[in-house]
Amino acid sequence: MKQLVNDIQMNYEDVGNGPALLLIHGFPLDHTLWTYQLESLRNEYRLVAPDLRGHGKSQAPPGPYRMEQMAKDLCDLIDLLKIERAVLVGLSMGGYIAFAFWRLYLHRVRALVLADTRAAADTPQGRQNRQEMAQRVQDQGTSTVVEGMLPKLLSPNTLQNKPKVVAHARRMMTNTPATGVIGALQGMAERPDATLTLSTITVPTLIVVGADDAITPPAEAEAMRETILSAHGEQLPGDKVHSVIIPDAGHLTPLENPPAFNQALREFLASLPG
Ligand code: MLT
Repeated sequence: MKQLVNDIQMNYEDVGNGPALLLIHGFPLDHTLWTYQLESLRNEYRLVAPDLRGHGKSQAPPGPYRMEQMAKDLCDLIDLLKIERAVLVGLSMGGYIAFAFWRLYLHRVRALVLADTRAAADTPQGRQNRQEMAQRVQDQGTSTVVEGMLPKLLSPNTLQNKPKVVAHARRMMTNTPATGVIGALQGMAERPDATLTLSTITVPTLIVVGADDAITPPAEAEAMRETILSAHGEQLPGDKVHSVIIPDAGHLTPLENPPAFNQALREFLASLPG
């Protein structure tokens, strides 16, 4: 399905009935990251999974794609779909976008799922790496990024034993056009630190991370949990902040270990107040 959202044609899936979930993929991926969640949860929930600007089958205007811009795209999309409030499920860059969405439209957020992501902004070195990567993509195309990122995205177990998952991850990255990769790299490099945003979270939150996530390791997840809890005390009691480590998974938990990811998501959704 496609809709004109802001200045772009945005491609998305919208399946199932029930309370709404907005599934926000990471970089440089597309909505098929959520294939197994779309399949498994559609009988109980309405699942909206867009291709972010510059990714998948959505249009790729020139960047930078700021996290706020991508959050606005998503808010406009749920407006068009007449969804008042949604559970935001953001993986990695999708998590950065979820933070921006929370800052801008908190009344539209029923709960947050922060998967394989971090609150901190890029370090100066990280920013420089992104600039260099953007330049490489400009000069040589995206294949250099794809082959460089693949071993970092997936756990050793996935890389060795799950060729279909490896092919799926490679396909998502290969399908992302150079303009999209560059726009997202520029936008992520500019993103602000979201640690203070974490302290403002007042909705139930689930933090998920792959045990073998090399990009945003379990220590980042624990740091986010502690920041949320220490900021709130009584206002957001400990039982509203859940944290799960997904075994046999690297950075792409919903794709690498769908049963464990779906179970964590299902249990969290069942715990939400009506
Ligand atoms: C992602 O998976 O979205 C990226 O690895 C995030 C990043 O590069 O910071």
